[in-house]
Amino acid sequence: MSKPVVLSGIQPTGGMTIGNYIGAINQWLTLQQDHDCFFMLVDLHAITVRQEAQMLKQRVLDGIALYSACGIDPEKSALFVQSQVPEHAQLSWVLNCYAQMGELNRMTQFKDKSAKNTNNINVGLYSYPVLQAADILLYQADQVPVGEDQKQHLELTRDIANRFNNIYGDVFKIPEPYIPEFGARVMSLQDPTKKMSKSDDNPNGYIMLLDEPKKIEKKLKKAVTDSDEQARIYFDPQEKAGVSNLLTLLSVATKRPIEQLVPEYEGKMYGHLKKDTADAVVAMIEPIQARFHEIRDDQTRLDQIMRAGAEKAGERAEKTLKAVYDAVGF
Ligand code: ADP
Ligand code: NA
Repeated sequence: MSKPVVLSGIQPTGGMTIGNYIGAINQWLTLQQDHDCFFMLVDLHAITVRQEAQMLKQRVLDGIALYSACGIDPEKSALFVQSQVPEHAQLSWVLNCYAQMGELNRMTQFKDKSAKNTNNINVGLYSYPVLQAADILLYQADQVPVGEDQKQHLELTRDIANRFNNIYGDVFKIPEPYIPEFGARVMSLQDPTKKMSKSDDNPNGYIMLLDEPKKIEKKLKKAVTDSDEQARIYFDPQEKAGVSNLLTLLSVATKRPIEQLVPEYEGKMYGHLKKDTADAVVAMIEPIQARFHEIRDDQTRLDQIMRAGAEKAGERAEKTLKAVYDAVGF
């Protein structure tokens, strides 16, 4: 029996936080054991906002190297660059002719983005959700991991697919949202009531996976805790949000349950917990950083990974596009 197919897009912009790594990438590593996963760097989507060409190229390579370094295994999953599989653009055009202006007008992400970026409201930005539909439908994906902000786009994908199928027969698999199992949620180091995010204005709030160890130590040293004079260390995300966040990080990084860690901090200070958390986080990500640099500095290896990924993705994409072209009369 074939494995369920999962597709996920990766923006080629600005790396990942340890929150992304712990919350998302870890799940992908589990997922790729028993799913057919397609992970793609979405450079076609990226140019809906102006990009500097050299920078975009570099960032795509960074992404390939980083996801490989994290353990996305080319033997199990396809890790590829969207523009290297021409079927994305080809199917996107066809689907444009089966998506209605009225539907796209309702997309809240377009409204938000065009309100923020009034000097470049291009047609690509508008039809972005149609390209996204093509991305998903090309692979006959069973499941698509979606955050809150992408739910509307997946709904549209399903609507377009159903519309097309109603006219031409079962060309597309109707994709379901993939609701990931609860992974650890990492909170901002500066405001532990909100999630750690790279779009945080305060860079001390987040740790990037490729941050230097020294920087990681500094950020964790500055992490907001609370004004409990006895500096008690226990897990209570409501009352002790900062401390609990550090315990979560320490637990994930050491692979030890929080209940086991807490007693070890009886009578100790927040400083101890911060130091141990920093050491553990650094130990967790040092091997990833080393692998990242090794792959990133090896253009032959990068080319190999991208070629293998595009071939694997292309094989599947080609079949779908052929069925679509047949259906519409090409
Ligand atoms: P960011 O806010 O860093 O830009 P995204 O919103 O792009 O992150 O989310 C990318 C993926 O990482 C999603 O699957 C999301 O659930 C996961 N993720 C993001 N931030 C965190 C976090 N702080 N803790 C756990 N998982 C996270
Ligand atoms: Na975000």
